[in-house]
Amino acid sequence: MYGTRLFDQPAHAAVRARLDAFLQGSGPLGVEIGFDHGMCILDRARRFPDHRHLGVELREARVEAASAHAPPNCLLLRIDARTLFSVLLPPASVDWVYLLFPTPPSGPKRVLLSAAFGAHVHAALKPGGTFWFATDVLELHTAAQGAFPWEEGSPPPLGAELSRRERVCRRDGLPVYRLCLRRPNAGA
Ligand SMILES: C[S@@+](CC[C@H](N)C(=O)[O-])C[C@H]1O[C@@H](n2cnc3c(N)ncnc32)[C@H](O)[C@@H]1O
Repeated sequence: MYGTRLFDQPAHAAVRARLDAFLQGSGPLGVEIGFDHGMCILDRARRFPDHRHLGVELREARVEAASAHAPPNCLLLRIDARTLFSVLLPPASVDWVYLLFPTPPSGPKRVLLSAAFGAHVHAALKPGGTFWFATDVLELHTAAQGAFPWEEGSPPPLGAELSRRERVCRRDGLPVYRLCLRRPNAGA
């Protein structure tokens, strides 16, 4: 699911066509990475009907299950976030990026929070756009600070639902490290 040429292939053309059609729409755009069951993005999609809500997730079953509940202003696709941000999103097209409790990488090929990813998110966000992040893994918080050396920003539109991992953190009393960062006008 990761590669700059992947979505040029016929097998992925339908996904790309759906994404491109959705991006043609109007209204502010939020992107959630790794939406899992989709509680947060589906809640926001219902609360903010004038916004567009794009979610990407690696697990096909999650995408299919959550898509059944998505209103027209919400598109959920099986795309690796690294591919989405590096080749599929137009520059300065996104208002808010949500990354909630990313998976700790199981090897170098799975790393999401890199300088390159930070630069691609910078390119896709509008100037002043927000990167919203949460994790209970201190190393991932440190990695996000390194990939996004940005100033503090204004919170994006939020719903009332907690993600599955955030519920676990509350239940088990785990610390949650958060970032709310504003995309700078220049640099990454
Ligand atoms: C630890 S789970 C957290 C899910 C949810 N955001 C939460 O807070 O409960 C991380 C999710 O991100 C997805 N994921 C991991 N790497 C991804 C990537 N590169 N692009 C898109 N989704 C990814 C995983 O499949 C998984 O569902």
